[in-house]
Amino acid sequence: MATEKIATIAVHAGSPEGPNAPITTPIVQSTTFRFESAHAVQQYARGDSGLYMYSRDENPTVRAAESAVAALDGGDSCVLFGSGMGAMTSALMAFTSAGDEVVAATALYGGTYKLLRDVLSRFGVKARMAEPEALIDEVARGGARICVFESPNNPTLRVADIAAVARACKAAGTISLIDSTFAPPLVQRPLTMGVDLVMHSGTKFLNGHSDHLVGAIVGRRELVEPIRALSHKLGAVLDPQVAYDLLRGLKTFAVRIERQCATALTLARWLEEHTAVTRVWYPGLPSHPDHAQAQRQMNGFGGMVTFTVGTREKAFRFWDRLKLIARAASLGGPETLTSLPILFSHTGYSAEELRRAGVDEGMVRMSVGLEDPQDLIDDLSQALG
Ligand SMILES: Cc1ncc(COP(=O)(O)O)c(C=O)c1O
Repeated sequence: MATEKIATIAVHAGSPEGPNAPITTPIVQSTTFRFESAHAVQQYARGDSGLYMYSRDENPTVRAAESAVAALDGGDSCVLFGSGMGAMTSALMAFTSAGDEVVAATALYGGTYKLLRDVLSRFGVKARMAEPEALIDEVARGGARICVFESPNNPTLRVADIAAVARACKAAGTISLIDSTFAPPLVQRPLTMGVDLVMHSGTKFLNGHSDHLVGAIVGRRELVEPIRALSHKLGAVLDPQVAYDLLRGLKTFAVRIERQCATALTLARWLEEHTAVTRVWYPGLPSHPDHAQAQRQMNGFGGMVTFTVGTREKAFRFWDRLKLIARAASLGGPETLTSLPILFSHTGYSAEELRRAGVDEGMVRMSVGLEDPQDLIDDLSQALG
């Protein structure tokens, strides 16, 4: 497709083409595919034949969704997974072996941090954790196969200088891998800033309807294909029905994201004025430590707002009083959701791990949905009391 406009890509990428083609992508709900001859199997094995063998390896509906997500991120290849963690696990395992090192930012999604700490460590892969400010220096020390980081990160929405991290990785011969779940393509496109691989929990803003788990890795073909090959062995692949629903969700991607960014900014400003709120983290506020960096590399500031009401007791009381806004994990759907990091993403962290992740006990993380902003303000207002 000739356009670079995200709203158009989101509607059309991956759609069937040709005379009398259906407007939407058919769901090819089949695990396996017929071959006409032994020769056809040989053709398939050479690759790029357009033939299919088995849906754990490839499936037409999943392929269509992969081409849509690749186009949204501006990458030439994408591989989709049955969850964001499937994507992260496959990406990290595809490029590491026993004895290798990974540089990781301390403020990572809990699942990724625990994957490094509890799982990959058992296979001899060592994680060198670095505070966000020290990430570039840690990469520059050299010796790491991959650097994994998030921007904005969870839950304080700190924004990395993505282009600078990518440059440091290139200089050190390290693959840069960004988890861009909190800032989907309309908000930022890290591949255009020099990053090697972008990962999304497509469960969130990409699918956008709180109904499916999806993971994505996007980047240059030579980096994505080894991950695809490993995913066929690990098996965390996407189902064709879910791939169809992802494509359906993407049709409204741009309007959803624009609305979520606009409402998030409104709520962040409102919260910052409220006397019961001691601090708001939103990259669109001048008070956020990375506001200037966010202005340079983001288009809108995303649909996530984090704030603190001081203490664990106050956070619990506020949270229990919410009426419209749901008490739930996850993000990126039409419903506004709130979670308490100490009970959700950062449960089980030691006090020192919480400190390094920038998490305090009175913190509330909010994923802004598509409701009327005034209704959300009314609910926050009554719950803050
Ligand atoms: C930033 C981030 N990365 C990765 C994941 C994992 O994605 P999934 O739940 O789709 O496996 C999540 C899930 O909450 C997330 O918030």
